[in-house]
Amino acid sequence: MVGEGVKPVILDTLEKLRDEVASRPGGMSVGFVPTMGWLHEGHLSLVRRARRENDRVIVSIFVNPTQFGPNEDLSSYPRDLSRDAALLADVGADDVFFPTPDMMYPAGYRTVVKVEDLSDLLCGKSRPTHFQGVATVVTKLVSLVRPDRMYMGEKDFQQVVILERMLADLNFSTRIVRCPLVRESDGLAMSSRNLYLSPEERQRALCLHEALQLAAADFIAGARDPGPVIDRMREHIQTRGGDIDYVELVDPITLTPAKILAEDTRAVLAVRIGKTRLIDNRRLG
Ligand code: PAF
Repeated sequence: MVGEGVKPVILDTLEKLRDEVASRPGGMSVGFVPTMGWLHEGHLSLVRRARRENDRVIVSIFVNPTQFGPNEDLSSYPRDLSRDAALLADVGADDVFFPTPDMMYPAGYRTVVKVEDLSDLLCGKSRPTHFQGVATVVTKLVSLVRPDRMYMGEKDFQQVVILERMLADLNFSTRIVRCPLVRESDGLAMSSRNLYLSPEERQRALCLHEALQLAAADFIAGARDPGPVIDRMREHIQTRGGDIDYVELVDPITLTPAKILAEDTRAVLAVRIGKTRLIDNRRLG
């Protein structure tokens, strides 16, 4: 049954969060899972891992306005705190930090964080302010929550790479624990945005995962030249009616196009199915 565990404490003011931080005994390890809510199994797997590896587990739920572009889904993004709190009770989160936009962005705020170069590639081309919004809010969350470890899913591969760079550049001691992408049984990567797909679009959305599998199969069969592999992925997606934002094979650290395919080359893609933009990725090897 959902929500059978002990309900997490909802910290809905900065004061409550600061009191929680101040009350921690020395040596207590803290695991943190930042989210935008509407939790699914992908998020819950992060919380379970944080639970196993830390004394205290804090989850944030904040639909961060600065990472949405002007024509994106900020107002329609699904929100339901009581549903999320019940799910978090089952996986043993201790606290939920649930700030309002005014708390995170006080009137007149002028400070942003941008990770140069990495933020302008891949998703950054069609979402030019997205990663600045992510880096800014995560800097604020980490400063407030002060976790030892932050658990992030590799579904948002570019986001993880950027935030690792940001934590290192700003001398935070928090380290990111990368966790595997979680898929539905038919291969679709779990995402809060899957909710927007009609049943017919849900079927077509499988082309993202299928294209990644094609790339991996080509690599295993000996392909080392990225061009033909990308062509095959694009053709598969287009045949299934997907509208391609990008399909790339990239170096996993610099996110720049791979010249020769290797085990750790990352196949990354963003595709619109109807009005819904979906992302997915996998390591080739
Ligand atoms: O991945 C997300 O849900 C968001 O980008 C994050 C990291 C919570 C920042 O708003």
